[in-house]
Amino acid sequence: RIKVIMDCDPGIDDGIALAYAAAHQDELELLAVTTFAGNNTSDKVTKNALELVDFYGLNVPVARGQERPLVKEVLHAEEFHGETGLGHCVLPEAKSEAASDNAVLFIRELLNRLPEGEQVVMIETAPMTNLALLLKVFPEIKNKIGKIVFMGGAAKGGNITPAAEFNIYADPEAAKIVFDSGIPLVMCGLDATLKCNLTRNQIMKLCQSGDPTARACGDMAGYVLENSSKYRCVASIHDAVPFMYLLHPEFFKTEKVLLDVDCSDGAGRGATLCDFRWWLHDEEKIKDMILTDADTERFQQELFEAIYSVS
Ligand code: BDR
Ligand code: CA
Repeated sequence: RIKVIMDCDPGIDDGIALAYAAAHQDELELLAVTTFAGNNTSDKVTKNALELVDFYGLNVPVARGQERPLVKEVLHAEEFHGETGLGHCVLPEAKSEAASDNAVLFIRELLNRLPEGEQVVMIETAPMTNLALLLKVFPEIKNKIGKIVFMGGAAKGGNITPAAEFNIYADPEAAKIVFDSGIPLVMCGLDATLKCNLTRNQIMKLCQSGDPTARACGDMAGYVLENSSKYRCVASIHDAVPFMYLLHPEFFKTEKVLLDVDCSDGAGRGATLCDFRWWLHDEEKIKDMILTDADTERFQQELFEAIYSVS
């Protein structure tokens, strides 16, 4: 089993990604879910994380993370995820409280308790403030992280600005620290995640299902659909991509890349700079990958099956 920690901001697609992880507990050992105030406030995303974990029957601690980015003002995304953060989905109240109010220290403790030689995969589906602080304050911890698979960025274009994707734009300084850490990165950016979606028909089926997880995911994804541009009749489930890449890399096209991020205050702020000229650099230096394309049908089928297998 691959040991993973999910650092997230649920968030509709974070919520659906967690359903995918819950369906794959034979392959993934989820050690913790940690939160950052990306899509909504720390209170709300932590409440959502606790409710989702219970609802999917996961026995996993939730730790509350940072409230704001490293340098600039906090940015939420209520218009995409609704007032609660989970669209139309209302879940039963969580039975337990957060295991910690400090996700950074919580992750550090978890990593320090790993048996000698073992590593985790960090799954990042939110701005990377928690991880950046962890790496900055406790740099020795990086030996415990084998890989960072993150949803964020894009080789081409953005969603929150013409140049930048939300998770990176909300804290580019944090992304910079993570990118410069030397830990191998897999960037699941918009180039691939915009192809990883559910169609209106698929979402309707989920909403009308008798299966509780299917209905909850339908109620989440349905909100995205209603609030998307009328020109799009699919809902992107960006945050499921890092997990799916781990278990099914064959669904994606990848390229070697050197990653950087624009931390300026100009129009490019938060844009990921993807250097595909790997031949200009030492082979040694090129540890990063970017997903450049995805197989939409296989993504949809895999996600659908997973959702129905949780309850
Ligand atoms: C990312 O931004 C958030 O709003 C989503 O949850 C996802 O992680 C997509 O750009
Ligand atoms: Ca997210």
